[in-house]
Amino acid sequence: MHSKDADGPVVLEASGLTKHFPVRRSPADLLTGRRPRSVHAVEDVDLVLRRGRVTALVGESGSGKSTVARLLAQVHSRTSGQVRLHGAEVNVHGGRRFRAYVRRVQLIFQDPFASLNPVHTVRHHLTRSLRIHDNAGSTRADLEQALEALLAQVHLTPAQRYLDKFPHELSGGQRQRVAIARALGADPEALLADEPVSMLDVSIRLGILNLLRDLKERLDLAILYITHDIASARYFADETLVMYAGRMVEGGDSETVTQHPAHPYTQLLIDSAPDPDRITAPSDGPGSRPANAEPPSLIDPPSGCRFHLRCPFVMPRCAEELPPHFEIGDGPGHWAACWLYDTSSVREGVA
Ligand SMILES: Nc1ncnc2c1ncn2[C@@H]1O[C@H](COP(=O)(O)OP(=O)(O)O)[C@@H](O)[C@H]1O
Ligand code: SF4
Ligand SMILES: [Mg+2]
Repeated sequence: MHSKDADGPVVLEASGLTKHFPVRRSPADLLTGRRPRSVHAVEDVDLVLRRGRVTALVGESGSGKSTVARLLAQVHSRTSGQVRLHGAEVNVHGGRRFRAYVRRVQLIFQDPFASLNPVHTVRHHLTRSLRIHDNAGSTRADLEQALEALLAQVHLTPAQRYLDKFPHELSGGQRQRVAIARALGADPEALLADEPVSMLDVSIRLGILNLLRDLKERLDLAILYITHDIASARYFADETLVMYAGRMVEGGDSETVTQHPAHPYTQLLIDSAPDPDRITAPSDGPGSRPANAEPPSLIDPPSGCRFHLRCPFVMPRCAEELPPHFEIGDGPGHWAACWLYDTSSVREGVA
């Protein structure tokens, strides 16, 4: 059953999503009887992907974004929480049910070179995807037609120019287009795009983002767009969620979150992006992390608000109490998990 509202039907939904990775105990830990520890990579994350909408998940590197994508893709098992596809809880690993899920929810990775096999041609990659997902038709002509249609979807035309090429014979942008075409071979409803442009040359990023936006509209896809570049979220996403050290700290429609950021961490992210109209940041290194910044340990995460060690507005309660989601009221669904927005003496929040 589809839950509907004005923004379109919900495709994929997570609630209370949590992932703790166990840390292997060293011989010294064993000798001293130190208790097993874990990396608290994702904590109590809620997220909704709707048909025909792009949701951006923004945060510096190490904040847990890829782990969220992998949990949604059922690649990692979760510590707790739920993932629902059209309202039905899904918890699958491998096997037929996993393949049925992957057909509807596809991952796109940051590095198209690593995700395509260098010894196989474009034709091989796309044929395999079409066949696995039963979209190759029954005749050779059906298959040729499906291959051409896939390449046309990602604007690689004429198809004959690309089908027999190997990944190294393509540019970075063309490779990412092939990786997207391969994902489309499953005829999915949701795409989880994990930093899909951050390894690409600045000059071709916009083309790939425009392609994803075009696919969202033409195929009515629900897209999760993961990025460390908040400026690109404004340009490209309908809704933006900001993640810090494993927790969601702010969310709302992209225009409001990027133009009127409420959470001090979002403000820091925006201040460290020098040109708000630019849609791209340097792929890694300084651009992926704001100034004054060492992310906190996720093995022993800060108490209360996880941002309190870096926050210019820190108050005594911040180190002690976890802030709930407070509504900001200046834009559709805008909220922030920050005690600055606690206007009531009775501490109520919209969790
Ligand atoms: N397989 C894993 N085992 C242990 N720790 C992991 C694993 N994957 C990610 N982590 C840790 O989880 C945290 C979040 O990582 P990740 O989700 O990759 O963040 P991001 O994508 O935002 O850079 C990091 O501290 C990272 O080291
Ligand atoms: S809750 Fe406190 S420490 Fe956290 S962002 Fe708000 S003011 Fe800063
Ligand atoms: Mg990542």
